[in-house]
Amino acid sequence: MTKKIAAIDIGTTKVCTIMGVQDDKYGLRIQGIGVVPSHGIEKAIVANVTQVKDSIRQSISKAEMMAGTKLTSAYIGVTGNSIHSANKKGTIAITNNDQLVRQDDLKRVLDVALNSEAPGERKILHVIPRTYILDGHEVQNPLGMHGNELGIEAHVITGSSASVQNLTQCINGVGIGIDEFILEPLACAEAVLTAEEKQVGVLVADIGGGITNIAVMRDGCIYHTGVLSVAGQHVTQDIATGLGIPIELAEEMKKKYGSLQPIQEKEGDKVVGENGHSIAYADLCDIMRARLEELMRLIIMELPHSNTASLIPAGIVITGGCANVPGIVEMAQGVTRLPVRIGIPSALSGVSSAQLNDPSYATTVGLLLWSMKNAGVGSQKGMQNQPSGFRRLFSAFR
Ligand SMILES: Nc1ncnc2c1ncn2[C@@H]1O[C@H](COP(=O)(O)OP(=O)(O)OP(=O)(O)O)[C@@H](O)[C@H]1O
Ligand SMILES: [Mg+2]
Repeated sequence: MTKKIAAIDIGTTKVCTIMGVQDDKYGLRIQGIGVVPSHGIEKAIVANVTQVKDSIRQSISKAEMMAGTKLTSAYIGVTGNSIHSANKKGTIAITNNDQLVRQDDLKRVLDVALNSEAPGERKILHVIPRTYILDGHEVQNPLGMHGNELGIEAHVITGSSASVQNLTQCINGVGIGIDEFILEPLACAEAVLTAEEKQVGVLVADIGGGITNIAVMRDGCIYHTGVLSVAGQHVTQDIATGLGIPIELAEEMKKKYGSLQPIQEKEGDKVVGENGHSIAYADLCDIMRARLEELMRLIIMELPHSNTASLIPAGIVITGGCANVPGIVEMAQGVTRLPVRIGIPSALSGVSSAQLNDPSYATTVGLLLWSMKNAGVGSQKGMQNQPSGFRRLFSAFR
């Protein structure tokens, strides 16, 4: 069976649409990719609906042109400061005469865990059961087991209704349906982490233009998600301010010459330049180092507890556009004292798919991979479809 699938990543610096086909025999094949600069997005949040719609329209039409087919609906990445995540707990009594845990009990225990969520202003985006506790014992799947008391711990991700509505308005406004919203850190984790890392404990940091998405995985499950409002644009801003050059030039210099590798003696007086401006290479690198070292410390502080070595023994995987800065791995190792590597999305097949083998596309590729694995699972859509949605949600995450 062949199924069309598409994802749109509306980032602070770029909008990327990927269209593909999913096929029982050949897996996923990319048919069209459309990357354009994004306008009207600030820190991953819609700031100007008209500009965002224009950017999305351009990105879609590029991808459609390559694919030779029309895009009708897509999975959409969502992130930003309005996203909150928390591990929620709930406990219920099993009151059936035979003390058997049934589907209804799973729904009821989840409802109890979700009860503490403020209704109205927040929209539930994902509900991921992390563990069940039956009469004090952790169990993977309590369905069909006997017990008196059933507990659940679930990772619940919510977004502010307003920011989700604005995004919906932009997507629907260009005539595209929304298959599902997917939290970007989850998508990113799907694209770049190994099963072993997810089991042992790992943090993935997608350092983009306006924000840094963070996901912590442990025991094969999501443990923590977070968003920091610091990323590549701040590095550029620091360079522009610190060296007194225009933003566009600072961005160009950063990408062309910027590095976190130790400055060699012979490079001490090196001058680099573009468009009639010249700057000291050492100053450029020092400014970048100061901001990115601070960001690494913020990433570690975002962790829910301070014993990082035991929480994430597999260390940190850095991805997103800023993972391209030379020397970022060594810098991050120095700051965190943890293993660090760069996350590049695994190779896909299809038209121009080699273009996606760059950390900048980790989240976009992850949106497709996540949707293939978990379509309809744990989302708002899934929640509305309970109990069938819950059944899918239950089976997919354990
Ligand atoms: N070689 C490079 N050296 C330094 N910075 C780079 C390099 N390549 C890309 N970047 C930076 O990466 C950032 C863009 O990353 P990315 O494409 O992941 O962001 P985005 O998805 O558009 O934004 P966000 O995820 O924050 O909404 C920009 O700030 C850009 O300057
Ligand atoms: Mg991004």
